[in-house]
Amino acid sequence: MDFYEVIRTRRSVRSYKPDPIPDNVLRRVLDAARIAPSGSNRQPWKFIVVKDEETKRKLIPACHNQSWIAEAPVIVVACAQELAYNRGGYMGKLSGVMDATIAFTHLILAARAEGLGTCWIGAFDNDKVKEILGVPEGWNVAALTPLGYPSEGEDAFRETANRKPLEEIVSTDKF
Ligand SMILES: Cc1cc2nc3c(=O)[nH]c(=O)nc-3n(C[C@H](O)[C@H](O)[C@H](O)COP(=O)(O)O)c2cc1C
Repeated sequence: MDFYEVIRTRRSVRSYKPDPIPDNVLRRVLDAARIAPSGSNRQPWKFIVVKDEETKRKLIPACHNQSWIAEAPVIVVACAQELAYNRGGYMGKLSGVMDATIAFTHLILAARAEGLGTCWIGAFDNDKVKEILGVPEGWNVAALTPLGYPSEGEDAFRETANRKPLEEIVSTDKF
């Protein structure tokens, strides 16, 4: 699939078929996250693939009761390591989260290329998700997404006009 078509037609999907994801497809999507760039190539991330039905259900209240996340056969949870030393400077403690979310973007775009829906979940309780999944001290949850085939089929992947125009968000030489 053409790269620009992937990014134009990726949409947040909030309704899923229960159909399983073939192992080789899931592996390709996870591998897209693995090869993402990170500051000093530290790769301070871990991706938890939640397939267990009970664990998926437990994540619902930890994600502000967004119950549809558990419709998908898989929920992927991106965890970021707290980095004591940040060579990059100003991002400080957030540098691990930034790296993990870059990798998560790779995963989300790869999912679209495979015909899989995702929805970036930022409304979650870090402590609750950490407890449910046994995430150790020194790590935080950066984002979650359900991963599965959209109930709507291919119609879920449509272009949107709901974005600011380029002229508003780009300037030349100065802010
Ligand atoms: C950091 C972040 C957090 C988000 N959190 C949620 C969320 O908790 N629940 C939800 O339904 N959508 C969430 N979204 C999805 C956005 O609402 C969505 O990306 C935006 O409205 C644009 O729509 P599109 O993804 O279909 O292009 C989040 C997106 C991002 C990038």
